[in-house]
This record gives sequence, structure tokens and C-alpha cells, in this order.
Amino acid sequence: MTADDRLSGPPAPEGRPRISLRPAWPGDAVLLQSWRKEASVKRFQPLAAASVAQLRAELSSHTPRDLYRSVGDKFQWLVLVDGEPAGWITLVVTNWDHGLAEVGYALSTAYQRRGVMPEAITLLLADLFLNTRLERIEARCTVDNDASQRVLERVGFAREGRLRKYFVLGGRRVDNYLYAVLREDFAPRPE
Ligand SMILES: CC(C)(COP(=O)(O)OP(=O)(O)OC[C@H]1O[C@@H](n2cnc3c(N)ncnc32)[C@H](O)[C@@H]1OP(=O)(O)O)[C@@H](O)C(=O)NCCC(=O)NCCS
Repeated sequence: MTADDRLSGPPAPEGRPRISLRPAWPGDAVLLQSWRKEASVKRFQPLAAASVAQLRAELSSHTPRDLYRSVGDKFQWLVLVDGEPAGWITLVVTNWDHGLAEVGYALSTAYQRRGVMPEAITLLLADLFLNTRLERIEARCTVDNDASQRVLERVGFAREGRLRKYFVLGGRRVDNYLYAVLREDFAPRPE
């Protein structure tokens, strides 16, 4: 892990925080576990209980640079706000042959509603479409998660359908929306 692995945009305008991403490493397991327990983080997504040891083992099994060699299936980044850890983004590659992946994300409660995640996802998409063979990035969120839908639409995802009774949340099955962004949606090619 070097400074080169960090993803960041141009300097933030006056008064705005600087958003960047860096690959998550095993030492982040404690932080991830504490965020996963926050009520606002769990509200719209079924996060299974995981021990620090389990999270650390999972993070140890990822090699961030594999992403750029088209191998591996799960990658995680920490979202940094002015250099401080604020949340995380997970990318699961479902099929390298077809360039398919799915993204998931969350911010710690204190960093929500500050316009952080749209910027963080935009940084990641720019990197993925520039430096990997991925062609289609999907995301799912519950139909009640207005903030997540706003984020996805703002960064260029299109809503493609409704996944009925997709998962169990708070003891009941809930519908999800399926979103996706294609390489050409994000960076339209000249005619
Ligand atoms: C969903 C989440 C990633 C949004 O990121 P964010 O950086 O807080 O989003 P923003 O501050 O850019 O807000 C996006 C929009 O949603 C609105 N919004 C944010 N939080 C909201 C909330 N709790 N309820 C309703 N609207 C909300 C904002 O006002 C903004 O509206 P606008 O488009 O009119 O400006 C973040 O709130 C979060 O981590 N939530 C908990 C985990 C989660 O739900 N993850 C997604 C699972 S699919």
C-alpha cells in the first residue's frame, strides 16, 4: 500500500472537505465493525454480525492491486474526509469475463448528509472505468432508502427495476431497486 493507491480528485473548493479513498487494510477491521453496529448504518441494509477477527481475515484475503489485473472478487476502500476515516465502499466483481460488478457503501452517522458519498463513488467509478475492464457496475438499495437512491441517480446510475422481496430487514422481506451504471453512461464517447 503506497500513497499511489489513494484515489482523490482535484483540491476541494474553499470551505469544502477533501474526499478521497484508500484501499481498506486489515487494521481497519475494528473501525468497520464499529460502523456496522451504528443504527443509521444498519437501517436499510442487513449487515450480518461479524467479529473483528472475521473482518480482519476478510480484509487480509484481498489484494487491492488484483483489481487492476482483472483477478479477485471483492475489494474495499475507506472513504476519507479531510484524511479522516468516514465510511467504506465495497466492490464485488461478479464476472470478469463480462465486466460485471456490484458496489455497496455506507458512511458513519456523523458524516452522512454532507454530500460525501456522491463524490466518493464518482472517484471510484472514474478509476474503475479508466483502469479496469469493468463495463457495468450495479447497486441495490431498499425502496425506502431515499438518500441512497439520490446518491446513485446523482452519480449517473439508472434505475433498472424492482427486485421484489429481495432480502430480510428487521424481520420482514423488503423490495429493492436495482441500479446500474455503464462505462458509456459515466464517460460518454464522442459521436
Ligand atoms: C445513503 C448514504 C450513503 C448517502 O450518502 P450521503 O453522503 O449522506 O448523501 P448526501 O449527503 O449526498 O445526500 C444525498 C441526498 O439524500 C438526502 N438524504 C441524506 N440523508 C438522508 C436521510 N437520512 N433521509 C432522507 N434523505 C436523506 C440528502 O438531503 C440529499 O438530497 P438532495 O439530493 O436533495 O441534495 C449515507 O446516508 C449512508 O451511509 N447511510 C447509511 C448506510 C446506507 O444506507 N448505505 C446504502 C445502502 S444501499
